[in-house]
Amino acid sequence: MARFNNLSVEIAGALPGEEVLVELGRRKQHGCVKGFLRDVITPSPDRVEPRCSHVPQCGGCLWQQMDYAAQLRIKEEAVRKLFEPFPEARFHPILGCSDPWRYRNKMEFSFSQNAAGNRYLGLVLVGGNGRVLDLQECHLTSEWSIDLLKAVRGWWEESGLAAYRHSQDTGHLRTLTVREAKQGRGKLVMLTVSGNPGFAMPSDQIKRFVDVVRATGEDISIFVRVHQILKKTPTQFYEMHLSGPDHIVETLHVLGRTLHFKISPTSFFQPNTLQAQELYSRALGMLKLTPETQVFDLYCGTATMGISVAHMVKEVVGIELNPHAIFDATCNMEMNAVSNVALHRGDVGEVLASLGASRPEVAIVDPPRSGLDEKAVKNLIALRPQQLLYVSCFPKTQAENIALLREAGYVLQDVQPVDQFPHTVHVENIALLTCTAP
Ligand SMILES: C[S@@+](CC[C@H](N)C(=O)[O-])C[C@H]1O[C@@H](n2cnc3c(N)ncnc32)[C@H](O)[C@@H]1O
Repeated sequence: MARFNNLSVEIAGALPGEEVLVELGRRKQHGCVKGFLRDVITPSPDRVEPRCSHVPQCGGCLWQQMDYAAQLRIKEEAVRKLFEPFPEARFHPILGCSDPWRYRNKMEFSFSQNAAGNRYLGLVLVGGNGRVLDLQECHLTSEWSIDLLKAVRGWWEESGLAAYRHSQDTGHLRTLTVREAKQGRGKLVMLTVSGNPGFAMPSDQIKRFVDVVRATGEDISIFVRVHQILKKTPTQFYEMHLSGPDHIVETLHVLGRTLHFKISPTSFFQPNTLQAQELYSRALGMLKLTPETQVFDLYCGTATMGISVAHMVKEVVGIELNPHAIFDATCNMEMNAVSNVALHRGDVGEVLASLGASRPEVAIVDPPRSGLDEKAVKNLIALRPQQLLYVSCFPKTQAENIALLREAGYVLQDVQPVDQFPHTVHVENIALLTCTAP
Protein backbone atom coordinates (compact mmCIF):
# COMPACT_ATOMS: atom_id res chain seq x y z
CA MET A 1 0.00 0.00 0.00
CA ALA A 2 1.41 3.44 -0.95
CA ARG A 3 0.30 6.99 -0.01
CA PHE A 4 -0.39 9.71 -2.59
CA ASN A 5 -2.18 13.02 -1.91
CA ASN A 6 -3.81 11.64 1.27
CA LEU A 7 -4.99 8.57 -0.64
CA SER A 8 -4.00 4.99 0.07
CA VAL A 9 -3.00 3.40 -3.24
CA GLU A 10 -2.95 -0.37 -3.65
CA ILE A 11 -0.37 -1.27 -6.31
CA ALA A 12 -0.18 -4.90 -7.37
CA GLY A 13 3.35 -5.79 -8.47
CA ALA A 14 5.20 -3.01 -6.58
CA LEU A 15 7.48 -3.82 -3.65
CA PRO A 16 7.91 -1.78 -0.46
CA GLY A 17 10.45 1.04 -0.89
CA GLU A 18 10.33 1.10 -4.70
CA GLU A 19 9.97 4.20 -6.85
CA VAL A 20 7.31 3.33 -9.42
CA LEU A 21 5.22 4.88 -12.16
CA VAL A 22 1.57 4.19 -11.52
CA GLU A 23 -1.70 4.94 -13.28
CA LEU A 24 -4.35 5.69 -10.70
CA GLY A 25 -7.70 3.92 -10.93
CA ARG A 26 -10.87 6.02 -10.74
CA ARG A 27 -12.89 4.18 -8.14
CA LYS A 28 -12.29 5.04 -4.50
CA GLN A 29 -13.25 2.56 -1.80
CA HIS A 30 -12.82 3.50 1.89
CA GLY A 31 -10.29 6.22 0.94
CA CYS A 32 -8.29 3.68 -1.08
CA VAL A 33 -7.71 3.59 -4.80
CA LYS A 34 -6.15 0.99 -7.10
CA GLY A 35 -2.87 1.91 -8.81
CA PHE A 36 -1.80 0.11 -11.99
CA LEU A 37 1.97 -0.40 -12.17
CA ARG A 38 3.38 1.01 -15.42
CA ASP A 39 7.11 1.08 -14.66
CA VAL A 40 9.59 0.38 -11.86
CA ILE A 41 11.94 3.38 -11.71
CA THR A 42 14.07 2.36 -8.72
CA PRO A 43 13.73 -1.35 -7.97
CA SER A 44 13.89 -2.75 -4.46
CA PRO A 45 16.95 -4.91 -3.64
CA ASP A 46 14.34 -7.61 -2.90
CA ARG A 47 13.04 -7.62 -6.50
CA VAL A 48 13.75 -10.87 -8.35
CA GLU A 49 12.86 -12.19 -11.79
CA PRO A 50 9.49 -13.98 -11.51
CA ARG A 51 9.28 -17.55 -12.83
CA CYS A 52 5.84 -17.07 -14.33
CA SER A 53 4.98 -15.08 -17.44
CA HIS A 54 1.60 -14.18 -15.89
CA VAL A 55 3.19 -11.97 -13.20
CA PRO A 56 1.88 -9.33 -12.36
CA GLN A 57 -1.54 -9.87 -14.03
CA CYS A 58 -2.48 -13.10 -12.25
CA GLY A 59 -4.26 -12.83 -8.90
CA GLY A 60 -3.02 -16.29 -7.90
CA CYS A 61 0.32 -15.03 -6.67
CA LEU A 62 1.08 -11.39 -6.01
CA TRP A 63 4.60 -11.68 -4.62
CA GLN A 64 6.55 -13.80 -7.10
CA GLN A 65 8.73 -10.82 -8.01
CA MET A 66 9.89 -10.60 -4.37
CA ASP A 67 12.78 -12.64 -2.97
CA TYR A 68 11.36 -15.42 -0.75
CA ALA A 69 13.38 -14.29 2.29
CA ALA A 70 11.80 -10.82 1.94
CA GLN A 71 8.30 -12.34 1.66
CA LEU A 72 8.92 -14.15 4.94
CA ARG A 73 10.21 -10.97 6.59
CA ILE A 74 7.10 -9.02 5.57
CA LYS A 75 4.71 -11.75 6.68
CA GLU A 76 6.45 -12.10 10.03
CA GLU A 77 6.35 -8.33 10.50
CA ALA A 78 2.61 -8.23 9.68
CA VAL A 79 1.83 -10.91 12.28
CA ARG A 80 4.14 -9.25 14.81
CA LYS A 81 2.19 -5.99 14.37
CA LEU A 82 -1.18 -7.70 14.86
CA PHE A 83 0.10 -9.25 18.08
CA GLU A 84 1.72 -6.08 19.48
CA PRO A 85 -1.16 -5.73 21.99
CA PHE A 86 0.05 -9.03 23.57
CA PRO A 87 3.61 -8.25 24.79
CA GLU A 88 3.31 -11.13 27.27
CA ALA A 89 3.56 -13.70 24.44
CA ARG A 90 6.75 -15.31 23.11
CA PHE A 91 6.95 -14.52 19.41
CA HIS A 92 8.74 -17.17 17.34
CA PRO A 93 10.35 -16.42 13.96
CA ILE A 94 8.25 -17.40 10.96
CA LEU A 95 8.65 -20.95 9.67
CA GLY A 96 9.32 -20.79 5.92
CA CYS A 97 8.89 -23.50 3.30
CA SER A 98 11.93 -25.54 2.31
CA ASP A 99 10.66 -25.40 -1.30
CA PRO A 100 8.35 -22.48 -2.18
CA TRP A 101 7.44 -23.87 -5.64
CA ARG A 102 4.78 -26.35 -6.84
CA TYR A 103 3.54 -26.76 -3.29
CA ARG A 104 -0.24 -26.64 -3.81
CA ASN A 105 -2.27 -29.86 -3.70
CA LYS A 106 -5.48 -28.08 -4.74
CA MET A 107 -6.38 -25.47 -7.36
CA GLU A 108 -9.72 -23.99 -8.34
CA PHE A 109 -9.91 -22.59 -11.87
CA SER A 110 -12.83 -20.50 -13.17
CA PHE A 111 -14.56 -20.54 -16.55
CA SER A 112 -15.38 -17.16 -18.05
CA GLN A 113 -16.43 -15.68 -21.41
CA ASN A 114 -16.60 -12.10 -22.60
CA ALA A 115 -19.28 -10.47 -24.76
CA ALA A 116 -17.34 -11.43 -27.93
CA GLY A 117 -17.47 -15.08 -26.86
CA ASN A 118 -13.74 -15.41 -26.08
CA ARG A 119 -13.12 -18.16 -23.54
CA TYR A 120 -10.96 -17.88 -20.42
CA LEU A 121 -10.12 -20.73 -18.03
CA GLY A 122 -7.79 -20.02 -15.15
CA LEU A 123 -7.36 -17.73 -12.15
CA VAL A 124 -8.87 -14.32 -11.48
CA LEU A 125 -6.95 -11.27 -12.77
CA VAL A 126 -5.51 -8.73 -10.35
CA GLY A 127 -7.88 -5.73 -10.18
CA GLY A 128 -9.95 -7.31 -12.96
CA ASN A 129 -13.29 -7.22 -11.10
CA GLY A 130 -13.65 -10.98 -11.35
CA ARG A 131 -12.31 -11.25 -14.91
CA VAL A 132 -10.39 -14.46 -15.51
CA LEU A 133 -6.88 -14.93 -16.91
CA ASP A 134 -6.52 -17.71 -19.48
CA LEU A 135 -3.83 -19.54 -17.55
CA GLN A 136 -1.01 -21.19 -19.51
CA GLU A 137 1.42 -21.90 -16.68
CA CYS A 138 1.49 -21.89 -12.88
CA HIS A 139 4.45 -22.63 -10.66
CA LEU A 140 2.48 -23.11 -7.47
CA THR A 141 0.84 -26.31 -8.69
CA SER A 142 2.02 -29.46 -10.47
CA GLU A 143 2.72 -29.74 -14.17
CA TRP A 144 -0.08 -32.32 -14.38
CA SER A 145 -2.63 -29.73 -13.11
CA ILE A 146 -1.68 -27.43 -15.98
CA ASP A 147 -1.76 -30.26 -18.56
CA LEU A 148 -5.20 -31.13 -17.23
CA LEU A 149 -6.30 -27.49 -17.44
CA LYS A 150 -5.21 -27.35 -21.08
CA ALA A 151 -6.96 -30.61 -21.91
CA VAL A 152 -10.21 -29.33 -20.35
CA ARG A 153 -9.83 -26.06 -22.27
CA GLY A 154 -9.59 -28.08 -25.51
CA TRP A 155 -12.75 -30.00 -24.56
CA TRP A 156 -14.57 -26.75 -23.74
CA GLU A 157 -13.63 -25.18 -27.10
CA GLU A 158 -15.13 -28.13 -28.97
CA SER A 159 -18.15 -28.55 -26.72
CA GLY A 160 -20.10 -25.40 -27.55
CA LEU A 161 -20.87 -25.03 -23.83
CA ALA A 162 -20.97 -21.56 -22.28
CA ALA A 163 -19.26 -20.23 -19.17
CA TYR A 164 -21.67 -19.48 -16.32
CA ARG A 165 -22.71 -15.82 -15.91
CA HIS A 166 -23.65 -15.05 -12.37
CA SER A 167 -25.50 -11.79 -13.15
CA GLN A 168 -27.96 -13.59 -15.47
CA ASP A 169 -27.82 -17.18 -14.12
CA THR A 170 -27.00 -18.36 -17.65
CA GLY A 171 -24.34 -20.70 -19.05
CA HIS A 172 -23.11 -24.14 -18.06
CA LEU A 173 -19.56 -24.19 -16.65
CA ARG A 174 -18.52 -22.60 -13.37
CA THR A 175 -15.26 -23.99 -11.96
CA LEU A 176 -12.74 -26.78 -12.32
CA THR A 177 -11.28 -28.13 -9.07
CA VAL A 178 -8.05 -30.11 -9.27
CA ARG A 179 -6.57 -31.96 -6.28
CA GLU A 180 -3.71 -34.39 -5.94
CA ALA A 181 -1.92 -36.17 -3.15
CA LYS A 182 1.70 -35.06 -2.89
CA GLN A 183 2.90 -37.89 -0.64
CA GLY A 184 -0.05 -40.28 -0.79
CA ARG A 185 -2.02 -41.52 -3.77
CA GLY A 186 -4.59 -40.14 -6.16
CA LYS A 187 -5.61 -37.26 -8.37
CA LEU A 188 -9.09 -35.74 -8.32
CA VAL A 189 -10.95 -33.50 -10.78
CA MET A 190 -14.34 -31.91 -10.12
CA LEU A 191 -16.27 -29.88 -12.69
CA THR A 192 -18.81 -27.52 -11.12
CA VAL A 193 -21.74 -26.71 -13.39
CA SER A 194 -24.85 -24.56 -13.25
CA GLY A 195 -27.97 -25.92 -11.53
CA ASN A 196 -30.20 -23.90 -13.88
CA PRO A 197 -32.23 -26.60 -15.69
CA GLY A 198 -32.11 -24.49 -18.88
CA PHE A 199 -28.32 -25.05 -18.92
CA ALA A 200 -28.15 -28.69 -17.84
CA MET A 201 -25.02 -30.48 -19.10
CA PRO A 202 -25.74 -32.74 -22.09
CA SER A 203 -24.78 -36.34 -21.18
CA ASP A 204 -22.55 -36.76 -24.25
CA GLN A 205 -20.51 -33.75 -23.08
CA ILE A 206 -20.13 -35.22 -19.61
CA LYS A 207 -18.92 -38.45 -21.18
CA ARG A 208 -16.47 -36.55 -23.38
CA PHE A 209 -15.22 -34.58 -20.34
CA VAL A 210 -14.53 -37.84 -18.49
CA ASP A 211 -12.62 -39.24 -21.49
CA VAL A 212 -10.51 -36.09 -21.79
CA VAL A 213 -9.62 -36.09 -18.07
CA ARG A 214 -8.86 -39.81 -18.05
CA ALA A 215 -6.42 -39.33 -20.91
CA THR A 216 -4.23 -37.15 -18.65
CA GLY A 217 -3.35 -39.87 -16.13
CA GLU A 218 -4.22 -43.15 -14.46
CA ASP A 219 -7.09 -43.80 -12.06
CA ILE A 220 -8.22 -40.19 -11.73
CA SER A 221 -11.22 -39.54 -9.46
CA ILE A 222 -13.72 -37.53 -11.52
CA PHE A 223 -16.78 -35.73 -10.20
CA VAL A 224 -19.36 -33.30 -11.49
CA ARG A 225 -20.98 -30.94 -8.99
CA VAL A 226 -24.22 -29.10 -9.64
CA HIS A 227 -24.35 -25.66 -8.02
CA GLN A 228 -27.98 -24.75 -7.62
CA ILE A 229 -29.21 -21.26 -6.82
CA LEU A 230 -32.93 -20.80 -6.18
CA LYS A 231 -34.58 -17.62 -4.93
CA LYS A 232 -35.35 -17.63 -1.18
CA THR A 233 -33.57 -21.00 -0.80
CA PRO A 234 -30.05 -21.66 0.49
CA THR A 235 -27.57 -22.55 -2.28
CA GLN A 236 -27.40 -26.32 -2.82
CA PHE A 237 -24.61 -28.51 -4.18
CA TYR A 238 -25.05 -31.99 -5.58
CA GLU A 239 -21.97 -34.09 -6.35
CA MET A 240 -21.95 -37.03 -8.73
CA HIS A 241 -19.09 -39.47 -8.89
CA LEU A 242 -18.29 -40.19 -12.54
CA SER A 243 -15.11 -42.25 -12.66
CA GLY A 244 -12.13 -43.59 -10.65
CA PRO A 245 -11.87 -43.88 -6.86
CA ASP A 246 -14.29 -41.64 -4.91
CA HIS A 247 -11.48 -39.98 -2.92
CA ILE A 248 -7.73 -39.46 -2.73
CA VAL A 249 -5.47 -40.37 0.19
CA GLU A 250 -2.77 -38.00 1.44
CA THR A 251 0.09 -39.02 3.71
CA LEU A 252 1.50 -36.75 6.42
CA HIS A 253 4.46 -37.19 8.74
CA VAL A 254 3.43 -35.52 12.00
CA LEU A 255 5.39 -35.60 15.27
CA GLY A 256 7.46 -38.49 13.98
CA ARG A 257 4.50 -40.65 12.87
CA THR A 258 3.23 -41.42 9.38
CA LEU A 259 -0.52 -40.92 8.97
CA HIS A 260 -2.91 -41.34 6.06
CA PHE A 261 -5.97 -39.21 5.35
CA LYS A 262 -8.86 -39.86 3.00
CA ILE A 263 -10.03 -36.66 1.27
CA SER A 264 -13.39 -36.38 -0.53
CA PRO A 265 -13.83 -33.66 -3.19
CA THR A 266 -15.43 -31.09 -0.89
CA SER A 267 -13.58 -31.84 2.36
CA PHE A 268 -11.07 -29.28 3.54
CA PHE A 269 -7.42 -30.30 3.55
CA GLN A 270 -4.42 -28.00 4.11
CA PRO A 271 -3.42 -26.92 0.55
CA ASN A 272 0.34 -27.23 1.13
CA THR A 273 1.01 -30.85 2.12
CA LEU A 274 4.69 -30.55 3.07
CA GLN A 275 4.18 -27.42 5.13
CA ALA A 276 1.01 -28.83 6.75
CA GLN A 277 3.28 -31.41 8.40
CA GLU A 278 5.45 -28.62 9.80
CA LEU A 279 2.38 -26.63 10.88
CA TYR A 280 0.80 -29.58 12.69
CA SER A 281 4.07 -30.78 14.26
CA ARG A 282 4.90 -27.29 15.53
CA ALA A 283 1.37 -26.57 16.77
CA LEU A 284 0.63 -29.92 18.40
CA GLY A 285 4.15 -30.07 19.84
CA MET A 286 3.31 -26.96 21.93
CA LEU A 287 0.64 -28.88 23.88
CA LYS A 288 1.22 -30.69 27.16
CA LEU A 289 -0.66 -33.96 26.71
CA THR A 290 -1.00 -36.97 29.02
CA PRO A 291 -2.87 -40.28 28.73
CA GLU A 292 -5.62 -38.65 30.86
CA THR A 293 -6.13 -35.61 28.60
CA GLN A 294 -9.37 -34.99 26.74
CA VAL A 295 -8.84 -32.90 23.57
CA PHE A 296 -11.49 -31.03 21.61
CA ASP A 297 -10.57 -30.67 17.91
CA LEU A 298 -12.91 -27.90 16.76
CA TYR A 299 -13.41 -27.18 13.04
CA CYS A 300 -11.68 -30.54 12.67
CA GLY A 301 -12.15 -31.10 8.92
CA THR A 302 -11.00 -34.67 8.23
CA ALA A 303 -9.70 -34.80 11.85
CA THR A 304 -6.05 -34.46 10.85
CA MET A 305 -5.01 -32.79 14.10
CA GLY A 306 -7.18 -34.89 16.43
CA ILE A 307 -5.96 -38.14 14.87
CA SER A 308 -2.34 -36.93 15.10
CA VAL A 309 -2.56 -36.73 18.91
CA ALA A 310 -5.15 -39.46 19.60
CA HIS A 311 -2.50 -42.04 20.58
CA MET A 312 -1.14 -39.71 23.31
CA VAL A 313 -4.43 -38.86 25.03
CA LYS A 314 -7.54 -40.38 26.58
CA GLU A 315 -10.04 -39.07 24.06
CA VAL A 316 -10.50 -36.62 21.19
CA VAL A 317 -13.83 -34.96 20.40
CA GLY A 318 -14.03 -33.56 16.86
CA ILE A 319 -16.63 -31.04 15.65
CA GLU A 320 -17.10 -30.17 11.99
CA LEU A 321 -19.89 -28.70 9.84
CA ASN A 322 -19.20 -30.52 6.54
CA PRO A 323 -20.79 -34.01 6.53
CA HIS A 324 -18.35 -35.24 3.86
CA ALA A 325 -15.39 -34.24 6.04
CA ILE A 326 -16.98 -36.01 9.03
CA PHE A 327 -17.36 -39.15 6.92
CA ASP A 328 -13.72 -38.88 5.84
CA ALA A 329 -12.70 -38.37 9.47
CA THR A 330 -14.49 -41.60 10.44
CA CYS A 331 -12.58 -43.48 7.71
CA ASN A 332 -9.35 -41.78 8.79
CA MET A 333 -9.72 -43.13 12.33
CA GLU A 334 -9.83 -46.64 10.92
CA MET A 335 -7.02 -46.04 8.44
CA ASN A 336 -4.78 -44.85 11.27
CA ALA A 337 -5.89 -47.49 13.79
CA VAL A 338 -7.39 -44.92 16.13
CA SER A 339 -10.57 -45.63 18.11
CA ASN A 340 -10.73 -42.84 20.71
CA VAL A 341 -12.04 -40.02 18.51
CA ALA A 342 -15.74 -39.07 18.86
CA LEU A 343 -17.04 -37.00 15.94
CA HIS A 344 -19.96 -34.57 15.92
CA ARG A 345 -21.36 -32.95 12.81
CA GLY A 346 -22.61 -29.39 13.27
CA ASP A 347 -21.76 -25.80 14.03
CA VAL A 348 -19.03 -25.54 16.68
CA GLY A 349 -20.91 -22.98 18.81
CA GLU A 350 -24.08 -25.06 18.82
CA VAL A 351 -22.48 -28.46 19.34
CA LEU A 352 -20.34 -27.12 22.21
CA ALA A 353 -23.52 -25.90 23.94
CA SER A 354 -25.18 -29.29 23.49
CA LEU A 355 -22.21 -31.28 24.86
CA GLY A 356 -23.06 -30.08 28.37
CA ALA A 357 -20.83 -31.39 31.16
CA SER A 358 -17.78 -32.28 29.07
CA ARG A 359 -14.80 -30.06 30.07
CA PRO A 360 -11.68 -30.79 28.05
CA GLU A 361 -8.19 -29.91 29.28
CA VAL A 362 -7.21 -28.98 25.71
CA ALA A 363 -9.09 -27.37 22.83
CA ILE A 364 -7.70 -26.97 19.33
CA VAL A 365 -9.52 -24.45 17.12
CA ASP A 366 -8.85 -24.00 13.40
CA PRO A 367 -11.75 -21.90 12.09
CA PRO A 368 -12.20 -20.42 8.60
CA ARG A 369 -10.92 -16.89 7.82
CA SER A 370 -13.88 -15.28 9.61
CA GLY A 371 -12.56 -16.64 12.91
CA LEU A 372 -14.64 -17.79 15.89
CA ASP A 373 -18.19 -16.47 15.94
CA GLU A 374 -19.79 -15.06 19.08
CA LYS A 375 -21.43 -18.33 20.05
CA ALA A 376 -18.21 -20.32 19.62
CA VAL A 377 -16.26 -17.82 21.75
CA LYS A 378 -18.94 -17.79 24.46
CA ASN A 379 -19.20 -21.58 24.67
CA LEU A 380 -15.46 -22.08 24.50
CA ILE A 381 -15.01 -19.66 27.41
CA ALA A 382 -17.71 -21.54 29.34
CA LEU A 383 -15.74 -24.82 28.87
CA ARG A 384 -12.52 -23.08 29.91
CA PRO A 385 -9.94 -25.59 28.59
CA GLN A 386 -6.59 -25.03 30.32
CA GLN A 387 -4.73 -25.07 27.00
CA LEU A 388 -6.20 -23.51 23.89
CA LEU A 389 -4.36 -23.98 20.62
CA TYR A 390 -5.60 -21.57 17.97
CA VAL A 391 -4.49 -22.25 14.37
CA SER A 392 -5.60 -19.66 11.84
CA CYS A 393 -5.22 -18.80 8.17
CA PHE A 394 -6.20 -15.18 8.93
CA PRO A 395 -4.24 -13.78 11.89
CA LYS A 396 -6.34 -10.58 11.94
CA THR A 397 -9.52 -12.33 13.13
CA GLN A 398 -7.38 -14.61 15.30
CA ALA A 399 -5.91 -11.61 17.15
CA GLU A 400 -9.41 -10.13 17.58
CA ASN A 401 -10.70 -13.42 19.05
CA ILE A 402 -7.66 -13.68 21.32
CA ALA A 403 -8.38 -10.20 22.71
CA LEU A 404 -11.82 -11.50 23.79
CA LEU A 405 -10.32 -14.67 25.26
CA ARG A 406 -7.85 -12.56 27.24
CA GLU A 407 -10.74 -10.63 28.82
CA ALA A 408 -12.06 -14.02 29.97
CA GLY A 409 -8.80 -14.92 31.73
CA TYR A 410 -6.69 -16.53 28.99
CA VAL A 411 -3.00 -15.66 28.68
CA LEU A 412 -1.33 -15.76 25.26
CA GLN A 413 1.87 -17.79 25.63
CA ASP A 414 3.24 -18.37 22.13
CA VAL A 415 2.79 -16.97 18.63
CA GLN A 416 4.26 -18.89 15.69
CA PRO A 417 3.67 -17.72 12.12
CA VAL A 418 4.03 -20.43 9.46
CA ASP A 419 4.26 -19.71 5.75
CA GLN A 420 1.90 -22.10 4.00
CA PHE A 421 1.41 -19.98 0.88
CA PRO A 422 4.68 -18.71 -0.68
CA HIS A 423 4.32 -15.93 -3.29
CA THR A 424 0.94 -14.90 -1.88
CA VAL A 425 0.10 -12.40 0.86
CA HIS A 426 -1.42 -15.11 3.05
CA VAL A 427 0.11 -16.46 6.23
CA GLU A 428 -0.92 -19.12 8.74
CA ASN A 429 -0.46 -18.49 12.45
CA ILE A 430 -0.38 -20.65 15.58
CA ALA A 431 -1.25 -19.23 18.98
CA LEU A 432 -1.13 -21.08 22.29
CA LEU A 433 -3.18 -19.71 25.18
CA THR A 434 -3.51 -21.00 28.71
CA CYS A 435 -6.03 -20.39 31.45
CA THR A 436 -5.50 -21.24 35.08
CA ALA A 437 -8.77 -19.74 36.39
CA PRO A 438 -11.35 -22.37 37.45
C1 LIG B 1 -9.45 -24.11 8.15
S1 LIG B 1 -10.37 -25.58 8.01
C2 LIG B 1 -9.54 -26.57 9.20
C3 LIG B 1 -9.75 -28.05 9.10
C4 LIG B 1 -8.78 -28.94 9.86
N1 LIG B 1 -8.53 -28.45 11.19
C5 LIG B 1 -7.50 -29.14 9.09
O1 LIG B 1 -6.43 -28.68 9.52
O2 LIG B 1 -7.55 -29.80 8.05
C6 LIG B 1 -11.87 -25.09 8.77
C7 LIG B 1 -12.90 -26.20 8.85
O3 LIG B 1 -14.01 -25.67 9.59
C8 LIG B 1 -15.22 -26.14 9.02
N2 LIG B 1 -16.26 -25.19 9.47
C9 LIG B 1 -16.55 -23.96 8.96
N3 LIG B 1 -17.48 -23.36 9.70
C10 LIG B 1 -17.79 -24.20 10.71
C11 LIG B 1 -18.69 -24.13 11.83
N4 LIG B 1 -19.44 -23.04 12.04
N5 LIG B 1 -18.75 -25.18 12.66
C12 LIG B 1 -17.98 -26.29 12.43
N6 LIG B 1 -17.11 -26.42 11.42
C13 LIG B 1 -17.01 -25.38 10.57
C14 LIG B 1 -14.94 -26.20 7.53
O4 LIG B 1 -15.80 -27.10 6.88
C15 LIG B 1 -13.47 -26.67 7.53
O5 LIG B 1 -13.39 -28.08 7.47
